[in-house]
Amino acid sequence: MKREINGHKLIYFDNAATTQKPRQVIAAEQTFYESHNGNIHRAVHTLSQEATEMYEDAREKIAHFINAQDSSEIIFVRGATEAINLVAYSWGLHNLKQDDEMLLSLMEHHSNIVPWEIVSKISRFKIKYVQVNSDGTLDYADLEKKINSGTKLVSLSHVSNVSGVINDVNYVAKLAHDNGALILVDGAQSVPHMPTDVQKLDVDFLVFSGHKMLGPTGIGVLYAKRHLLERMEPFQGGGEMIKDVSFSQKNGHCAISWNAPPWKFEAGTPNVAGGIALGEAVRYLQNIGMTEVLEHELALTAYAFKRLHELKKLTIYGPKDVKVKCGIIPFSLDGLSSHDVALFCDNFGIMLRSGFHCAQPLHQIFNLQSSARASFYLYNTLEEIDRFVEVLKELEQFWR
Ligand code: ALA
Repeated sequence: MKREINGHKLIYFDNAATTQKPRQVIAAEQTFYESHNGNIHRAVHTLSQEATEMYEDAREKIAHFINAQDSSEIIFVRGATEAINLVAYSWGLHNLKQDDEMLLSLMEHHSNIVPWEIVSKISRFKIKYVQVNSDGTLDYADLEKKINSGTKLVSLSHVSNVSGVINDVNYVAKLAHDNGALILVDGAQSVPHMPTDVQKLDVDFLVFSGHKMLGPTGIGVLYAKRHLLERMEPFQGGGEMIKDVSFSQKNGHCAISWNAPPWKFEAGTPNVAGGIALGEAVRYLQNIGMTEVLEHELALTAYAFKRLHELKKLTIYGPKDVKVKCGIIPFSLDGLSSHDVALFCDNFGIMLRSGFHCAQPLHQIFNLQSSARASFYLYNTLEEIDRFVEVLKELEQFWR
């Protein structure tokens, strides 16, 4: 996005919240509406056929991007939040019984806490929270202590949206499977930033949002292993998710059979344009290469760490070792609220997030009400970090 804010060149450091969009992604959505708009899977006319082909092609691209075995394992949803709710209701409600256990961690985003707490009130299963160390890393010893044969699901973020800590999902998946449990990975902060291979990671469910990876809002993905999708109950009822609905005079009801995955989970007209534009975002990222994206962000993070240490009143939360984290830096400046820091930076065209970032339990661990957060993406530069440090230095001076 090329614009100035208060006469300053925009520096966008709120990428963990949402990302800016390349022209190609915006154009994909526009072209769809201008030239191909029709409802999918419903009609024999040209527009419907083209729309269906484009939408299903996007699904294929996404399957390839995360190395799913088959594109039927990719369910289009509104975003990571809806994907977790889908699993909680379609799988959790029917598979987690009274006295079953599931594990969450205390670094989870509220979207990976609240749906489970709601469903556990209905099904009466038990949620155990794995501790997080004071530096924001997962307490693996606590995880090993809490997991047992009664654990049916471990649901964990791959990368924390507050600290940027990268969890060892490979190890946790193995531990879960050795104990007979499934694993759900919240990839909202990892899939946009690093290579993802669901087969290598051996995860059962993976969720992510399109808008955090150059795509539009209102579109995201649930990946699930095909055999799980086949056995899961539908999430929402409506058109397209059924194979057959027939009314019986005998009992006055409709007998319903479900469509096959992925369509079984996509009731009603989906976000066709969003799905197509997300496919374009994936193509854009693949052209650059996800290893390159990650390396760029790690270099930015290492540089930002070095420069931010020049500020005497600034505290960075999370691990000191930049190798165990992605490009997300939560911090505070002595005596200033996170909103004050963010507003001061905004005056200079720098966009930060402030508050508790939908992760209050982790802020409790850091002993904070809130934090300011800078989060990077592939289009950010070292020069922007220099400018950011300059502005924070001005704030330190000003506050003194
Ligand atoms: N989950 C997004 C964030 O962390 C909104 O900012």
